[in-house]
Amino acid sequence: MNLTELNRTAQAMVQPGKGILAADESTGTIQKRFDSIGVDSTEENRRDYRELLFRTDGAAEFISGVILYDETIRQKSADGVPLVKVLTDQGVIPGIKVDKSTKPLAGAEGEVITEGLDGLSDRLEEYVSLGAKFTKWRGVITVGDDIPSRYCIEANAHALARYAALSQEAGLVPIVEPEVLMDGNHSIQDCLEATRSTLREVYYQLSINRVVLEGTVLKPNMVLSGKDASRRASADEVAKATISCFLDTVPAAVPGIAFLSGGQSDDEATQNLNAINTHAHEVGVPWELTFSYGRGLQGAPLNAWSGDKNNSDATKAAFYHRAKLTAAARCGEYSTDMELSAN
Ligand code: 13P
Repeated sequence: MNLTELNRTAQAMVQPGKGILAADESTGTIQKRFDSIGVDSTEENRRDYRELLFRTDGAAEFISGVILYDETIRQKSADGVPLVKVLTDQGVIPGIKVDKSTKPLAGAEGEVITEGLDGLSDRLEEYVSLGAKFTKWRGVITVGDDIPSRYCIEANAHALARYAALSQEAGLVPIVEPEVLMDGNHSIQDCLEATRSTLREVYYQLSINRVVLEGTVLKPNMVLSGKDASRRASADEVAKATISCFLDTVPAAVPGIAFLSGGQSDDEATQNLNAINTHAHEVGVPWELTFSYGRGLQGAPLNAWSGDKNNSDATKAAFYHRAKLTAAARCGEYSTDMELSAN
């Protein structure tokens, strides 16, 4: 394992001014996204849409890396260039989702466990040969009546740590993604407690699985009220709760924290990221704080595209605009006026 190389890649992924595009929706998830715009989820449509994002001129100014799905890392553009090369030619780092999604956790109603450890080391070897430099695994923690259980947190943290150790051994930087879902009507305090317990267990498991933190990136949820809470916490409250939770749980050796958007609207995800960075500058934190957004970067371009080749320029313009604003938020330099500017 080359720790210097792993650390260099991790630092490049979270470098100042940039963040990560999560374009690793599984076939089932991208189908849901395409259903929302009335487009068939064919292999060609998926390629065409993602190619537009990857070929948006200037977006590489704001995007350090892209998380790909198994199908995408093997695809070529319409004019025959491997999509991985489309990215690397612009200096964008390609990565790959390696988990096999969630299944119900035995004996734990309402809770799930992420699968995909069997055969993982062989798959990682292939992904290295296809050009991947980093990996992603998402563990899911649900907040509800009497959950998350200790059992669910430990099982998911253990799987994340096994995955992270195997990735590092293959020379790939693991993005460690423990997501406390925002689904439900829970309070920000409930989210804070679930996130704190989860992160404590994740860093305990990473340490006993001998993962070198300097060669990792954390991809967590922000500390938020549930989507259906009677009162949603403000961006300022989110920023304070998030920074306090992370200072308490995430070791300083971690180069960066790249938040997921988790079903927040584009502008909510941007405003919260901006408030988090603004507050972080005030209190001082040891890590870079950036984004690794799927929905938070893709809502606008997906709608602009709507499956029509004639909308290619509008799709790219919408993606460029969102990437630029999210990158501004990642520096604490976003303002809502920027939403109105054309690009
Ligand atoms: P969202 O930003 O849409 O939550 O997606 C990020 C991701 O990669 C989830 O695993």
